[in-house]
Amino acid sequence: MRLLPLALLAVFLPAGAEEKSGAEVYESTCIECHGSGKHRAPILGDKKAWRPLVREGLDDLVPASYGGLRKMPAKGGNPALSDLEVARGVIFMANAGGGKFAEPSASDLERWRRKADSRRKR
Ligand code: HEC
Repeated sequence: MRLLPLALLAVFLPAGAEEKSGAEVYESTCIECHGSGKHRAPILGDKKAWRPLVREGLDDLVPASYGGLRKMPAKGGNPALSDLEVARGVIFMANAGGGKFAEPSASDLERWRRKADSRRKR
């Protein structure tokens, strides 16, 4: 019985722990453009730029980030990021711009993926 907690740790830790946090995703990928405004990307913490995006909401922002948008490449050009990681990156930047978004649920992720696939960048 004393082994049970360890066994549970082994089962549950790796899955969640391997996924990057929003800040880590931003630092690894998004900062290239969203740190400087390269290609006119909305800059992290620029409330004026982010206010209308926050108002649009995650249902627009996350699918756009999966598929890309004009000069913004799909997943910020880093296909190694999971859908959850990209969503966390979006939430990290949106919240720095005045949003109050929480960690997405599995059904959020499913809906955003479906939306991205149905309007894939051509
Ligand atoms: C190579 C540059 C580049 C990188 C890297 C990049 N972006 Fe962007 N991003 C842009 C540009 C440019 C825009 C503005 C697009 C437009 O409106 O024309 C943008 C816009 C956005 C928007 C607003 C979308 C909308 O609906 O208007 C979100 C959200 C976003 N990026 C998230 C991310 C995330 C998350 C990452 C990191 C995983 C990331 N970006 C990495 C260039 C980049």
